[in-house]
Amino acid sequence: MLKDLKKQTSSISHIAFIMDGNGRWAKSRLMPRKLGHKKGVETLKEVTEAVYARGIKHISVYAFSSENKQRPEDEIKNLVSLVKEYLKKELENFIENEIRLEFMGDLDYFPKDTQDIIGDSLEKTKHFKNKVLNIALNYGSQDEILRAANLAKKFPNEITKEEFYSLLYTSNIPPPDLIVRTGGDKRLSNFMLYQAAYSELFFLDILWPDFSETELDKVLEEFGKRQRRFGKV
Ligand code: IPE
Ligand code: IPE
Ligand code: MG
Repeated sequence: MLKDLKKQTSSISHIAFIMDGNGRWAKSRLMPRKLGHKKGVETLKEVTEAVYARGIKHISVYAFSSENKQRPEDEIKNLVSLVKEYLKKELENFIENEIRLEFMGDLDYFPKDTQDIIGDSLEKTKHFKNKVLNIALNYGSQDEILRAANLAKKFPNEITKEEFYSLLYTSNIPPPDLIVRTGGDKRLSNFMLYQAAYSELFFLDILWPDFSETELDKVLEEFGKRQRRFGKV
């Protein structure tokens, strides 16, 4: 079964998730939003495991956008502390399963203890090659493109597409083959605007905490039916 799925996913190198809907999931259960985020972390663990089991090498997840800083302070604190706890708890698992961590976004924003665990997880997993987990934290794609444009100014000549790509946070990662957004909204919310040029987009009504291995397989099956033309006939 997993073998068949691996065949189906052999053309996929990178899948990205906009993990939306945690707050609504909690609200519908009359629970505080933070319990939605907590359940969202459980879903993240299940889904990353399932993606790697299907032979897909790169996963990106949108965990905290630069615009999410406009949320109430206690929600921001909760999200930052969840990130820290997740990385602390999972680091052994990343090492054991040879998963390389990458991060994209302005990480200077985070408190020292969070930056320390980010640094630690980068350092201890940097030599792994076959599985990559790229976490977007305090990330905004417009900022990323501006940052790249400013870095490009240092080049003596006009830069190529490849050189520009190398100035993005995703320099070590190919563009996503699929971007999956849960939570019902049909927008990218400042996520990978440059990299998404030829990504297949999936907008699902299901809320992130309800997303699962089964839902992932539905997406992958649908992806298999799509014809990617990249502008050709
Ligand atoms: C996504 O869930 C997680 C983050 C943005 C951090 P939301 O918190 O946006 O949940 P909804 O969209 O309010 O349901
Ligand atoms: C996108 O969700 C960001 C993350 C999933 C981290 P939002 O909930 O922030 O997006 P908008 O505000 O509905 O566009
Ligand atoms: Mg949301």
